[in-house]
Amino acid sequence: MSILTPELIENYVYSLYRQDDEQLIRMRETAEKTLVPIITRDMERFLYTLCRISRPKHILEVGTAIGYSAICFAQAASEARITTIENRERSVHKARANVKEAGLEERIRVIHGDAAEVLPEIEGVFDLIFIDAAKGQYHRFFDLCRKNMAPGTIIVSDNVLYKGMPCDESFIPQRRHKTIARRMDEYLRFLTEDEELETSLLAIGDGVALSICK
Ligand SMILES: C[S@@+](CC[C@H](N)C(=O)[O-])C[C@H]1O[C@@H](n2cnc3c(N)ncnc32)[C@H](O)[C@@H]1O
Repeated sequence: MSILTPELIENYVYSLYRQDDEQLIRMRETAEKTLVPIITRDMERFLYTLCRISRPKHILEVGTAIGYSAICFAQAASEARITTIENRERSVHKARANVKEAGLEERIRVIHGDAAEVLPEIEGVFDLIFIDAAKGQYHRFFDLCRKNMAPGTIIVSDNVLYKGMPCDESFIPQRRHKTIARRMDEYLRFLTEDEELETSLLAIGDGVALSICK
């Protein structure tokens, strides 16, 4: 259950969720069973609608896992090419197999490597950048993507409210989470204060920051 939404409301919102694609249904079931953290159902719907509104042609994703959100992007933005980065070898294999099964190999490129090392090599401007990897490094990932942004680029940062931890110390269960919570707080202050960005913070899933380059 998300700490950001009362259970009653979350259950109601989820009861309105629809997904007809059999592969995505299977992938979500597998992810839930094996505890692979993929986008929540409400986040999936949010990204889908965002893609329908903004019609991105070039999407960059940091954090592929098994390729669930990358396939969602490809379905929601039918003209888009997606570049996605994942550092866990096993996840890369699974993501590539899922992309192949979906018949999307031409449009989704899964790059194996640490985003901090891969991002400096990524060229070109992207219409949408989705940051969904190591939470303590969001600001670093953002800075490494700056060269790939132009006015109008949308940046979606997922899980930014991290079970409430950046909001108040009382939500931090263990010391080891403290640094991540502090870094996420700094990142959110940066996103909301940077003069070249316009940012909204939304309590969807585990919190999302929706930014656009001015
Ligand atoms: C939340 S999951 C991504 C879920 C995926 N976007 C989806 O919704 O289907 C985060 C992924 O980022 C990967 N990751 C974490 N740190 C990374 C890094 N520095 N570089 C590349 N991938 C990283 C993890 O291995 C994990 O698979």
